[in-house]
Amino acid sequence: MKYSIIHNKKRKYSKCLLLAILLICSLGCKKNKKEVAQEVEVVATNKVSNNAVNAILSKGISDCESQLEIAVPKLTDLTKHPRLIETNETEWKEVPNGRLVWTSGFYPGILWYMYDLSGDKKWEAEAIKRTEVFEDFKTITEHHDIGFMMFPAYGNGYTIGHKEAYKDILLTSAASLASRFNPNVGTIKSWSNKMHPRWKQHITIIDNMLNLELLFWATKHGGDQKFYDIAVKHAETTMKHHFREDYTSWHVLEYDSITGEVLNKNTKQGYADDSRWSRGQAWGVYGYTMMYRETKDKKFLDFAKKITDKYLSLLPEDYVPCWDFDVANDPKEEKDASAAAVVASALLELSTYMDNQEDKNRYFNAALKMLTSLGSEAYSGVDKADSFLLHSTGAKSLGHEIDVALIYADYYYIEALSRLKHMTENNLTNE
Ligand code: GLY
Repeated sequence: MKYSIIHNKKRKYSKCLLLAILLICSLGCKKNKKEVAQEVEVVATNKVSNNAVNAILSKGISDCESQLEIAVPKLTDLTKHPRLIETNETEWKEVPNGRLVWTSGFYPGILWYMYDLSGDKKWEAEAIKRTEVFEDFKTITEHHDIGFMMFPAYGNGYTIGHKEAYKDILLTSAASLASRFNPNVGTIKSWSNKMHPRWKQHITIIDNMLNLELLFWATKHGGDQKFYDIAVKHAETTMKHHFREDYTSWHVLEYDSITGEVLNKNTKQGYADDSRWSRGQAWGVYGYTMMYRETKDKKFLDFAKKITDKYLSLLPEDYVPCWDFDVANDPKEEKDASAAAVVASALLELSTYMDNQEDKNRYFNAALKMLTSLGSEAYSGVDKADSFLLHSTGAKSLGHEIDVALIYADYYYIEALSRLKHMTENNLTNE
């Protein structure tokens, strides 16, 4: 009896201690890697019921639609697009649809996905209106972002809205992007030296992986085979040079334009040249998953798994990373919900390529955890601002877009919901 009271007291004490430790851990951005690995494993053993998936989906879709009902009537200037909502503000800050503004295509992309998810023609009409204003951007050759700009808008318009007329616009856009490929290096030149004078030669950034999707699309839709070949070569070169031995990514690589030699490995948006910028890793996860979809080459699938597993091992408890993994121990450092949205969308797709059930569950369930976190009170914009999500960080190292809502976070979030919906319709979930 005496023993059991002491034992119970001890247990109570241990429980309190455990709770205190958990609290302290959850206050910091970073979590002990071993703990996270265990969590992922626990998640991996579960099969999630379709009822649970449907609950995440219906809440997510209805929140997105109600947020758009509030935001869209306020966004009337067709020469601009919503880019961010500043910390503690409630309404979108709009910026011009400029040729140098990489975020121009995400808002129309969101509207296309809302049409896809709801079937409501009013979203289609709005999407068309917001897409067709920047057709001229198909000739952009000043930087690599033409993929980010044209594919969410015109690509989704072609697929979701069945807009045949967008095909030629996308084919021209692919040719513009391909014109930046340097065969000496084996990659597309992402940025101009004029805009980024720190680097004097051929600059390739990890984000560039996303632009390759436009090239694959173009070859599949009557464009030149060279678009496909360029995309593959770019991904192979990036796989070789852009990642550390532990499968984390650098942000910016400078190559010698003539010899193709790697000159420097740096950052622009990360904490430090050698730090692990979270969204950079997210672009890699998304990019190599897409590479496998388009080529069915196992080396890309293996690589996607390795960089994904690394990313998952670095996550905090809520599966939304700090903006740079190398400052994640500091609880004052901000989160980047946009990275979580990008990876959630990618992991849903990656899960469908797994042969064994354990990996399939692991990626699918991790994506669900990300979507659940993002849709929760902690990250949702509902009742707080006009966006779907809050708490993204665009470029802290440049002193802007810190703990804000970002249009591309919303884009990849609604893309993930759309992918999840189609997966449930096609029995591709893990029930
Ligand atoms: N340029 C893409 C990004 O900021 O992640």
